[in-house]
Amino acid sequence: KSITIIGMPMDLGQMRRGVDMGPSAIRYAGIVERLQGLNLEIHDRGDIQIGRPEVVIDPDTKMRNLELVAEKSEILAKVVDKVIEDESFPLVFGGDHSIAIGTLAGVARHYENLGVIWYDAHGDLNTAETSPSGNIHGMPLAASLGIGHPVLTQIGGYSPKIKPENLVIIGARSLDVGERKLIKEKGIKVYTMHEIDRLGMAKVIEETIEYLKARTDSVHLSLDLDGLDPTDAPGVGTPVLGGISYRESHLAMEMLAETKMITSAEFVEVNPILDERNKTALAAVALMGSLFGEKLL
Ligand code: ARG
Ligand code: MN
Ligand code: MN
Ligand code: MN
Repeated sequence: KSITIIGMPMDLGQMRRGVDMGPSAIRYAGIVERLQGLNLEIHDRGDIQIGRPEVVIDPDTKMRNLELVAEKSEILAKVVDKVIEDESFPLVFGGDHSIAIGTLAGVARHYENLGVIWYDAHGDLNTAETSPSGNIHGMPLAASLGIGHPVLTQIGGYSPKIKPENLVIIGARSLDVGERKLIKEKGIKVYTMHEIDRLGMAKVIEETIEYLKARTDSVHLSLDLDGLDPTDAPGVGTPVLGGISYRESHLAMEMLAETKMITSAEFVEVNPILDERNKTALAAVALMGSLFGEKLL
């Protein structure tokens, strides 16, 4: 099976410019060569055009760039849908995490019970009502569960994309009040940093695999680089101290690779403007190497 790279240079879901250069930074860090080195067939279909639209705050909802995010997400959803139809593995590079709305809209229509691993410091479970910022990159998971503004939940023309019981969040250490409430209400499985410290990453991923195997027919990995500790991934717009280490992340990717259960993935929030010598994009590339089966021996 081949892998199709899709660049989604969208920075409209938050306030810090620069994350639109994420796809370039990841390519510059050598992703194509890295994956080709694993004898994989790689198609890079280039970036989806975002242009330089003006930032607009919707006066009714207080959301930043609602219409634009929706418009671009529809395009991404169609591209991802087509890649799966063509029996290739969609690998999407962000862009801020709002792009997951489009990715999941393209992926989820192909499966009865799509599982999602949300590797992130944040829950991204806000709605316009609970958001402290109005930033849509804090809302994609809620939208994909069918919660929030219809313009976001209805991307791709259907809702919800995923069921709360098919979701596992890993790395959480910054959750807003409304997000915590939603997690409890829906019984969402969350491994916060507390559980990762306590159980160790190996156990966390073993449990995650077992949990998702029992109820899903395929799994999407949505990896926000801010899930990693800022010392290992400094080039992100919303860093949170006390994160998952580079090594733990590699272990996680290697264990997922062994199961062959991941059928689509996205790596988001790489912001080269905030980075140190492209360290964060290099980390993303190394993690993708592991996710696609790289082994030392
Ligand atoms: N919870 C905060 C908000 O809603 C931060 C979200 C950060 N999300 C991200 N994908 N980095 O604004
Ligand atoms: Mn289709
Ligand atoms: Mn995050
Ligand atoms: Mn996120």
